[in-house]
Amino acid sequence: KKGDYDHYMKKEINEQPDSVMDTMRGRINFQEHKVRLGGLVKEMERLKTARRMIFIACGTSYHSAVGTQALFEELTELPCTVEIASNFLDRRAPIFPSDVCVFISQSGETKDTLNALNFCKAKGALCVGIVNTVGSSISIATHCGVHVNAGPEIGVASTKAYTSQFITLVMMALVISEDNPKKAARRREIIDALHELPDQVRRVLALDIDIKTMSAQYYPKERNSVIIGRGHQFATCLEGALKIKEITYMATDGVQAGELKHGPMALIEPALGIILVMTDNSLFPEAESAFEQVRARGGQPIILCNEGDKRIPAACTPIGWLESLLPPGTTLGQKQRNDWMGARALRIPKTVDALEGILTVIPLQLMAYHIAVNQGKDPDNPRNLAKSVTV
Ligand code: UD1
Ligand code: BG6
Repeated sequence: KKGDYDHYMKKEINEQPDSVMDTMRGRINFQEHKVRLGGLVKEMERLKTARRMIFIACGTSYHSAVGTQALFEELTELPCTVEIASNFLDRRAPIFPSDVCVFISQSGETKDTLNALNFCKAKGALCVGIVNTVGSSISIATHCGVHVNAGPEIGVASTKAYTSQFITLVMMALVISEDNPKKAARRREIIDALHELPDQVRRVLALDIDIKTMSAQYYPKERNSVIIGRGHQFATCLEGALKIKEITYMATDGVQAGELKHGPMALIEPALGIILVMTDNSLFPEAESAFEQVRARGGQPIILCNEGDKRIPAACTPIGWLESLLPPGTTLGQKQRNDWMGARALRIPKTVDALEGILTVIPLQLMAYHIAVNQGKDPDNPRNLAKSVTV
């Protein structure tokens, strides 16, 4: 079943050009810029007249909601909140019949998510499932929903299900906002970008060799790490950190770049593993500021950025870029240059801001995989974890 691969995780990461395509198949008409989700048709009226939307999930599935929350807010112009199922249940948060509650789950069997679903159903809310496993408890118990169609996922660390959940949520936001003429241009831009996505995923996967080398070079032994980003990229930071911690057992945090000064900055030092997401979007200046702050404290980040972004000098030379930040007339000493260790930029294709999270997460999936394998850990069977948490 693993075919040519040593592990299911690697196989599933590499399946993403196809799984991403399968999620969109038959649902998006790229010529006419129309999206149709058969599973939502019967409840479309309630979806379009909701007062607010609440996304509820656990683990990686929760991160897919974090990654699409901003787009939901932008397109639906509704309050949209994202909840960890157990915490939501602990609070017994107020829920009303005018709410739409969306339950996201790969397995469709996660106990906390299922309990939250039963809670919201009893309060009269419209309950929608975003589920990979057809015939699962959540798929059946929800009023309506969308199967993400990523195909069976065996690896405990979720990879292709995440990117498919992300795309399914994007399609759902597009459908709910289809009648709003103010959003037409933005919807069109996103649908065009979705069309490009499978090929771009393929190009990101081609970075595998570079990522493998970087993993060996920068994570030779157990070290703690942080993944820093903001805006549409924060979900990638959380999800990348989860991937690294769950299969390598290294303490890793996803850090909101805007929160750096409020604590995480204390961790920054040369021995800390740092990945900084600096993609080409409206928040680039803020990401650049995070880069400078991290470098000023001796941090040596790997940078995840876009192909051809001239602000990060060509020839993959963050070192030249670094020098460009120094006062005029000064250059780095040899030791500082060596400390920097040359090229650290991973360049990925550019897409629209709201979809970047699909492309930025893949290098981190690969990074987690290679670190685990380098360190002799089995990525398919992480200690103490189960694929599906039903008790
Ligand atoms: C469905 C078929 C698909 C077929 C297509 C053709 C299934 C599972 N899917 O896909 O094989 O190619 O029609 O038009 O038979 N649902 C929930 N909760 C969930 C997920 C789904 O209630 O969490 C419900 C939906 O509301 C829908 C049904 O399950 O009634 C199938 O959902 P989905 O597979 O997403 O629908 P289609 O994409 O239309
Ligand atoms: C488990 C899995 O913890 O459950 C994770 O190991 C997963 O990979 C989480 O994200 C939630 O599972 P599901 O099936 O509800 O998406």
